[in-house]
Amino acid sequence: MAVGVLISEADVEKKISQMAEEISKEYAGKTVHIIGVLKGSVFFMCELAKRLTIPVTMDFMSVSSYGDGTKSSGVVKLVKDLDESIEGRDVILVEDIMDSGRTLSYLVRILKERKPASFKVITLLDKPDRRVVEIEPDMTGFVIPDRFVVGYGLDCAQKYRNLPYIGVIEE
Ligand code: IMP
Ligand code: MG
Repeated sequence: MAVGVLISEADVEKKISQMAEEISKEYAGKTVHIIGVLKGSVFFMCELAKRLTIPVTMDFMSVSSYGDGTKSSGVVKLVKDLDESIEGRDVILVEDIMDSGRTLSYLVRILKERKPASFKVITLLDKPDRRVVEIEPDMTGFVIPDRFVVGYGLDCAQKYRNLPYIGVIEE
């Protein structure tokens, strides 16, 4: 299988810098607690965190919503919860991609119940054409067409996460 470039590494990094600048301005004087959803959001989260100029703390959680291929199972399961409480904190949930919206709506529901001081969701990629749940991220890197993408943390059967760009698998 060959992988074509949908969004180059330079374009992804430029966009992440812009997002970090915006967040640093918006949260000036605060400590932002960023939560990454394993494993896909790790690459985006690191690149974002490196560019934030405000104090940052981090935590991770893991959910499973997909099988090993490219089809959604429609079921979201909490695999790893956060290590720390988010009560009273300014939380940003960092996602790699928003597709059906099922994962995000589940996470938003359980995390908002824990009384953070503020709560926002950012995603590197958004495929709005595929949404089945009514939910929108507070900040999006790129809106992309309905194609299965890999790289920059995103996998196909656990492969290609390490590609430094956003790619599409060409049959
Ligand atoms: P949702 O619950 O349908 O919004 O799916 C979100 C999760 O599905 C993401 O965090 C990814 O792990 C996975 N996913 C959705 N679309 C893609 C894709 O195009 N490539 C790789 N993973 C994807
Ligand atoms: Mg995944």
